[in-house]
Amino acid sequence: MISFEQYAKSFEGTVSALDVAANEETIRQIFRLRDEKNAIILGHNYMPPMIYGLSEESARGDSLLLAQVAAQTSSDVIVLNGVRFMAETAKILNPGKRVLIASKQAGCSLADPIRANEVKQIREEYPGAPVVTYINSYADVKAESDYCCTSANALRVVRHVREEFGTDTVIFLPDTLMGKNLQVELDALKSGIDLIYPGKKNTLMEGSCMVHEQFTANDLKGIRQEYDIPKGGQRRAVLAHWECPPDVIEEADFHGSTTQMMGYVREHKLEKAYLATECEMAANLQQQLPCVEFVRACLVFCPHMQQITLKGILHALETGDEDLHEVNVDEDIRVRALAPIERMISIS
Ligand code: 13P
Ligand code: SF4
Repeated sequence: MISFEQYAKSFEGTVSALDVAANEETIRQIFRLRDEKNAIILGHNYMPPMIYGLSEESARGDSLLLAQVAAQTSSDVIVLNGVRFMAETAKILNPGKRVLIASKQAGCSLADPIRANEVKQIREEYPGAPVVTYINSYADVKAESDYCCTSANALRVVRHVREEFGTDTVIFLPDTLMGKNLQVELDALKSGIDLIYPGKKNTLMEGSCMVHEQFTANDLKGIRQEYDIPKGGQRRAVLAHWECPPDVIEEADFHGSTTQMMGYVREHKLEKAYLATECEMAANLQQQLPCVEFVRACLVFCPHMQQITLKGILHALETGDEDLHEVNVDEDIRVRALAPIERMISIS
């Protein structure tokens, strides 16, 4: 388990010692309660460094990894430093554990507008077509779905579903931009799959991530020019998350989930990188890879992720307050939501 001393040392040269010192008491209390309550602290890649650093390395990552770690943990309490749908997924997978989040208000612009009724609506429009739901969704939506997916495995899941169900029409919810990006790749692979996502040949409202929809291809071109990152260059690259608009994906040298983007920077031994995604991820990577120059044009923070604060985490561990912090899922919905997540994990 990380101690306060190891935590403070891990920031040398990145987060100022003053910031760590100003929060020392809170952080020490978080670690003390973590140990007393036998808690595991999971951290999404978009957490700011001082929160990300609370998690062991094996408990930091993308939505897929957090779900996998939550499913397997033997700790009594799971503290999920990420947004509410991630905490809900942890509860669905490991219902015997107490799942806490610093703020239950931490939503997601993809998950919030679509609920079970929307899934039923599109099923009526496409009878017999399987539904693949992105993990950025709530339990009632997952409960109405055939498969879940994350940005790390969406392409594989969609192609698997087509084989399993023997149909070319596959419904993908709720991210319109990611749906478009997946369709481009499926076409390039000559898959024959017609992916139906919100806004394409159906009555559902388009859905998108309020962070990633902001990037434009021109932004990326400007960054390439200003910071000398040529397209297809050797050890310099622009990377984008799957949730960005299609022309941004086309302009990027690589696209993937948050962890896949991190892996690309490492594997290609990049010397300079720009990540078209939530800005804190570059801050976390900078700490792990001090030799890489990360261009940080930080216009884009996720306001939902930002609701997770050190004080909130401490309050969650101290009180376990049901209204503010504890995440529970109705048992009937949980059991139905578990099936598509387990199907996803079994093929990941
Ligand atoms: P990842 O699954 O890639 O971590 O993405 C989650 C997310 O919320 C992206 O905006
Ligand atoms: Fe949702 Fe976008 Fe925030 Fe991720 S970054 S939690 S997709 S609003």
